[in-house]
Amino acid sequence: MNNNKLEINDTNLIPLQGLGVEINRLKAEKNAVIMAHYYQTGDIQDIADVVGDSLALAQQAAKTNADIIVLCGVHFMGETAKILSPTKKVLVPDLNAGCSLADSCPADAFEAFCKAHPDHTVISYVNTTAAVKALTDVVVTSTNAKKIVDQFPKDAKLIFGPDRNLGNYINSVTGREMLLWDGACHVHEQFSVEKLVKLKAEHPQAEVLAHPECKRPLLLMADFIGSTQALLNYTINSDKNSFLVATESGILHEMQKKSPQKEFIPVPPNDSTCACNECNFMRLNTLEKLYQCLKNESPEILVDEEVRIKAVKPILRMLEMS
Ligand code: 13P
Ligand code: SF4
Repeated sequence: MNNNKLEINDTNLIPLQGLGVEINRLKAEKNAVIMAHYYQTGDIQDIADVVGDSLALAQQAAKTNADIIVLCGVHFMGETAKILSPTKKVLVPDLNAGCSLADSCPADAFEAFCKAHPDHTVISYVNTTAAVKALTDVVVTSTNAKKIVDQFPKDAKLIFGPDRNLGNYINSVTGREMLLWDGACHVHEQFSVEKLVKLKAEHPQAEVLAHPECKRPLLLMADFIGSTQALLNYTINSDKNSFLVATESGILHEMQKKSPQKEFIPVPPNDSTCACNECNFMRLNTLEKLYQCLKNESPEILVDEEVRIKAVKPILRMLEMS
C-alpha cells in the first residue's frame, strides 16, 4: 500500500503528514484560502494561511481574492465571511460548530428587546447569527468594542448584546450605561477564581491575562484584560516570563510559538471533570474534516440574501470604525 497516493479517499489511510500535503494540494488547485481562529487546534492553525481573532478573520474575508474560503472556526464566523464575500464559496469543516453565546440571543427575542427601546442604537458582538446582525446598527468584536463605543456621544442610548460580561466590561471602561442583553459564553464563564488564586500562589511572578467574556470576579484578578489578539500581543511585548491565561486554551499554541522561552499556564474551569476551557464547538473541527470539506466543497455556509443585505451594513460599519 502506498500511503502517499493522491487518490486515496479514506482519511484513515492517509498519514497526518500526507493529510497536510493533500490539503495544500487541494488548496492550490481550487484557489482556496484557509482561515483559522486562535481557538482551533495547533495542527489546523499551523496549516492555515490566516490565523487570527474574530476581527482579523472578518477583515481578511472581506479582502481575499480566493474563490473558496475555508473558515476553521464556528458557524457565525463562516456566516460573517459569507456576508462580506457573497460571491465566494464559504466552507466550514463541521457545520455543527455553533456558539453558546450566539445561541443565547435568539433573533425574535432580541428584536422584541430592541423594539421595546426604539430610541436606542443597537450594538452587537460579532458572536451572533446573521439574523441578529440584520437587527443591528453596528457590529463589534472584543478587539474593537471599546474603540467603537467611544465614537458614540457620551449621552447616546445604546443597547449591547449578547454578552453581558463583555458589555459590563465595556460599560466600566467607557463610563457608559448601555442596556445589556443577558447572554454569555459557556467557556469563558467557567473559569474558576478559586483555582486561579491557588495557581497565583504557586506562580507569584506570573501575570494574569483574561478575556473580557469572563465574569467580573475573575476580571478583577487580571493584570491585563483583552481580546484574544490583544492577549497575544501583550505576551509578546511583556518583559514578564510567565502568564496565567483565562481564555480558550487554543491561544496558548500561538503564544508559545511567538515566545518559546516564556511559560503559559491555562486557568482551569470550575468543573475539573471536563476540559471546558476548550470550546467544544471550536474543537469539533479537525484536520481530517478540514481535508474532507476542501475535497468535497462541503459543508457550505449559505445566507438568505434578504438577511445578508441587512446584516452586511453593520459589519461594514464596524470595519470602517475599527
Ligand atoms: P475574539 O476572537 O474577538 O477574541 O473572541 C473570542 C471568542 O470567543 C471567539 O468565539
Ligand atoms: Fe462561542 Fe464561547 Fe466557543 Fe467563542 S469560546 S465560539 S464565544 S462558545
